[in-house]
Amino acid sequence: MSLLVARGLSKRFGGLHAVARLDMEIARGEMLGLIGPNGAGKTTVFNLLSGFLVPDAGDIVLDGHSIVGLPPHAICRLGLARTFQIVRPFPRMTVLENVRVGALARCPRAPEALARAREVVARVGLGPRERVAAGALTLADRKRLELARALATGPALLLLDEVMAGLNPTEIETIIQLIRAIHASGVSILLIEHNMRAVMALSQRIVVLSFGERIAEGAPAEIAHHPKVVEAYLGEEYVRAAPA
Ligand SMILES: Nc1ncnc2c1ncn2[C@@H]1O[C@H](COP(=O)(O)OP(=O)(O)OP(=O)(O)O)[C@@H](O)[C@H]1O
Ligand SMILES: [Mg+2]
Repeated sequence: MSLLVARGLSKRFGGLHAVARLDMEIARGEMLGLIGPNGAGKTTVFNLLSGFLVPDAGDIVLDGHSIVGLPPHAICRLGLARTFQIVRPFPRMTVLENVRVGALARCPRAPEALARAREVVARVGLGPRERVAAGALTLADRKRLELARALATGPALLLLDEVMAGLNPTEIETIIQLIRAIHASGVSILLIEHNMRAVMALSQRIVVLSFGERIAEGAPAEIAHHPKVVEAYLGEEYVRAAPA
């Protein structure tokens, strides 16, 4: 049984079909990439799956349970966590306190939540900064904090929305290793990413969106040469992301 199945998922904003009759499945243990041009509907898919938006049509089944219409915190408790494209930690709270908020979703008992938060903060490499206010972190550390907050909820499925955007090559390499380690620990991952080299290297399978519709799906090597994908998206971006 797939960990997540979305069928006929649709969302309109006024006259705009942001997501149109999308079918998508994520297998248990899979790392799936979700790519496509700006405005293709990728973040909207995350908002639908995580309960921040309610679809106009379609069904979403997580681990055998339909989750359509459930609020984000209930979906989170069922094992789905996501990061935000625009990272927004509580700026005056420390790194540890921010992560503790995520941990409380999973362990309501305060001492356990704190222990869990510490462990996750160390895991993403923010241990030395656990007492720093989140607002004082660099972008790379804010991205790691965003990951930690999601991880602290103990997800079976983690949705990552452009966690590499704005990072330098060294920082990207660090976060790729971190994503690999999280995946290896048994968490299934759905990854939105414009960095083609990274998404091709990480994903076992890739779904391509354009104007809200799935235009292709397959192994990274197939997607890289798929005529529709090159035409709608990869052409310019892929060349830009290719190694020098
Ligand atoms: N809350 C909203 N209200 C109205 N329109 C929206 C809303 N959210 C997204 N849109 C529109 O829906 C379309 C899809 O947006 P979405 O953010 O899902 O794209 P994306 O694939 O994540 O793009 P990017 O790669 O730039 O992050 C865009 O045209 C966007 O302007
Ligand atoms: Mg987006």
